[in-house]
Amino acid sequence: MTKILQINDLFAGLEEKELLHGISLNIKPGETHILMGPNGAGKSTLGHVIMGNPSYEVTSGQILFEGEDITELSADKRAKKGIFLSFQSPIEVPGITLSNFLRSVIESNPDRHAEILNFKDRLEENMKVLKMDPKYAKRDLNVGFSGGEKKKAEILQLLMLNPKLAILDETDSGLDVDAMKTILSGVERFQKDKTRAMIIITHNTKILEKVHFDKIHVLVDGKIAKSGGAEIIDEINKSGFEGYLADKK
Ligand SMILES: Nc1ncnc2c1ncn2[C@@H]1O[C@H](COP(=O)(O)OP(=O)(O)O)[C@@H](O)[C@H]1O
Ligand SMILES: [Mg+2]
Repeated sequence: MTKILQINDLFAGLEEKELLHGISLNIKPGETHILMGPNGAGKSTLGHVIMGNPSYEVTSGQILFEGEDITELSADKRAKKGIFLSFQSPIEVPGITLSNFLRSVIESNPDRHAEILNFKDRLEENMKVLKMDPKYAKRDLNVGFSGGEKKKAEILQLLMLNPKLAILDETDSGLDVDAMKTILSGVERFQKDKTRAMIIITHNTKILEKVHFDKIHVLVDGKIAKSGGAEIIDEINKSGFEGYLADKK
């Protein structure tokens, strides 16, 4: 089976500072991988580097998407190929409504023009799943949205754009129980399509009881300190991330 994402011994960071020191990762269609680790470990950096954020520089290693080397590709081209990154702090975009934003992203991709026909129905349906007031579609993107509403808007983008690879960066943080449940139902909906894959970056081992996943990776100090299954949750709950820090010394 072709991998959706293959990362080979990736070294990357900011111009003046290497932040990722040899990351390798393989993700197949239908899989959800969890990325955990302490603050400052480089989790968001990895998300940005996979997305092709130009602020970061890859110094060696490769990122392959569906078998194609995309290491040098622009973020825009990666997005069109089907990579999606939800931001830890979604930006407010005055002057563009949520609905128009989504429509323009779909319209800008010639492969997706057919989706414009049922855009409104899909938008309504997905907003219902996320328990979003339909009025939000007409509001400026994220402007004046509460933290929880911004996160819902991110998941709405996920469902509308249906990327091949979705990276959710701490989408679960700062949510109350009800909003969390709603967000997770959106995640589940996305996971139903087994041609898609997902990376969930989180701090919270609790949500791992509620979401389906295939693998957990613990990122510490720009390296994957451990990869494995659900047994890692107990390790983290017991010894925190410090256990992995000690392992490395
Ligand atoms: N734009 C930036 N300028 C300076 N330092 C940064 C920048 N982005 C990230 N860093 C640093 O890189 C390290 C990794 O950050 P990040 O990837 O955000 O960690 P995580 O998401 O795991 O908390 C941190 O030490 C952080 O301070
Ligand atoms: Mg982060």
